[in-house]
Amino acid sequence: MLQKFDERNRDLLININGELIHRDQAGISPFDSAVQGGDAVWEGLRVYNGTIFKLTEHLDRLVSSAKALAFAQIPSHDEIKHEIRKTLNANKMRDNVHIRLTLTRGVKVTSGMDPRLNTAGPTLIVLAEHKAPVYADAVSETGLRLITSSVRRFPPDCMDPKIHHCNLIQSILAKIEANNAGADDAIMLDTRGFVAETNATHLFIVAQGHGYEERTVVTSPTHACPEGITRQTVLDLCAEHGIAHDVRDITLTEIYRASEVFCTGTMGELVSVAEVDGRKICGVQTSSLTDRIRALYMKYTKTQGEPIDL
Ligand SMILES: Cc1ncc(COP(=O)(O)O)c(C=O)c1O
Repeated sequence: MLQKFDERNRDLLININGELIHRDQAGISPFDSAVQGGDAVWEGLRVYNGTIFKLTEHLDRLVSSAKALAFAQIPSHDEIKHEIRKTLNANKMRDNVHIRLTLTRGVKVTSGMDPRLNTAGPTLIVLAEHKAPVYADAVSETGLRLITSSVRRFPPDCMDPKIHHCNLIQSILAKIEANNAGADDAIMLDTRGFVAETNATHLFIVAQGHGYEERTVVTSPTHACPEGITRQTVLDLCAEHGIAHDVRDITLTEIYRASEVFCTGTMGELVSVAEVDGRKICGVQTSSLTDRIRALYMKYTKTQGEPIDL
């Protein structure tokens, strides 16, 4: 399993609507929209050395998702930042921390899915945990083993992935398939058969470019996956450092024959993929393009975060 309990998290204080509560006592109402219908949006953020990486971008995605779901009330960036800072300070957290931010439509007067039943809300939950990047061991050791899931990612005409919502059932079904196959994670295709992403991260391949020996970093468009913040950071770093890059549909065959494959996400940063559906890819190599981009990313996280104590 990629994650386990961390003893430092035994006495966490969790922030629910501004109140800090011990993890054993923290809870939300059974009438809350998250319980009733997964009617909530969320963000995963990472704290590096007293700063929160891409905080504003994460809050932009949270707020735009809540707007698309027509939440009646949405807290401002400043209000959310205040609650995040309060939570990190109360838990004395400065580094190597993951924050799961959840905003639900709030509490309903009776059970049911109709948003008109919501008379109080929203509910804002700030859950900060000491957590190393989820794939830390895989990065230093072997790289990830992936299988392809039978579960497809929705296109925008079914459920627009630009809404970063809390219904994770598609991902959970894909993860169960990966678990049963003894793999780390699963690749998910879109309904046209192109690669969408994994159950939790975006995918990149290193493919032959147009020129002789030119290597290009390629990722899928965001038709059937969220607008990833790590994904965009990687694309921006490629542009800044003269690394050829492209966004286009990718097929599974291109994954199988790629010289390198890597995944990106806030929770696990950048990690090499060693094997897909029994085909060996590169795995962990020094001097790979993945290695170079990971080094650029790690340097960037150290300098670009928003300070906790503003
Ligand atoms: C389904 C899915 N894919 C990929 C990602 C990675 O996105 P980001 O780089 O913004 O963390 C996330 C993160 O929440 C996600 O939920």
